[in-house]
Amino acid sequence: MALLQTDNLTAHYGDFQALFGVDIRLEEGETVAIIGANGAGKTTLMRSISGVLTNRADAITFENDRIGSAHAADIVKKGIAMVPEGRKLFPSLSVEENLLIGAHGRKVTGIWTLETVYEMFPVLKERRLNPGTALSGGQQQMVAIGRALMSNPRVLLCDEISLGLAPVIIRDIYAALPKIKASGTSIVVVEQDIGQALKVADRVYCMMEGRITLEGAPSDLSRDAIHNAYFGAAA
Ligand SMILES: Nc1ncnc2c1ncn2[C@@H]1O[C@H](COP(=O)(O)OP(=O)(O)O)[C@@H](O)[C@H]1O
Ligand SMILES: [Mg+2]
Repeated sequence: MALLQTDNLTAHYGDFQALFGVDIRLEEGETVAIIGANGAGKTTLMRSISGVLTNRADAITFENDRIGSAHAADIVKKGIAMVPEGRKLFPSLSVEENLLIGAHGRKVTGIWTLETVYEMFPVLKERRLNPGTALSGGQQQMVAIGRALMSNPRVLLCDEISLGLAPVIIRDIYAALPKIKASGTSIVVVEQDIGQALKVADRVYCMMEGRITLEGAPSDLSRDAIHNAYFGAAA
């Protein structure tokens, strides 16, 4: 059994069906990337796993526990933390207060504390008393990642952490992922940026129109196969 898996996962927004029988798995210690164009269903999949959208109990399994119908606060307690699309910091709170909020969700001790988050992202220590909104986009993304780590999760879900950032900043943000992996956390990264995803992932899933269209290790996937799975064979 995988650490985390979905089984025939579906999702709807009213009458609109956004996910059609999605099956993915994340093994202990793995970094898995989910790539796909805008609207493919990547964020909906992350919202489903993190309990923002609920489902059949057996649609999602984590550590042999059926969590598909659990709500977001319980999912964090169980050890799955999300870095949401668009960062979603609390604007009136300082960097440090934003980070501390992450620790409230799950009271377990682990390697992630204010000190170790600041060690990974030193600029946040310098700016720890600033409001989140006074930071650059890249610094805000570091806070969002740090906030999720403060719950010492077993699984970290990262939704488009490169979106809207300059290439040098993306490189800095992505440099954190191997450190997070080395700390024992398994990782799911959602990306539209295929190159970035292939660099960090042990395994990749491609999504299109609410379905998984391709799965494999980066070295086993041809450019043509990825292109067809991402844009459709006719594109
Ligand atoms: N809150 C919502 N209400 C209605 N439709 C939504 C909502 N969120 C997303 N969708 C639709 O669901 C589909 C998948 O969206 P999303 O999961 O955000 O894709 P991605 O993250 O891959 O860009 C899209 O067609 C999108 O328009
Ligand atoms: Mg999205």
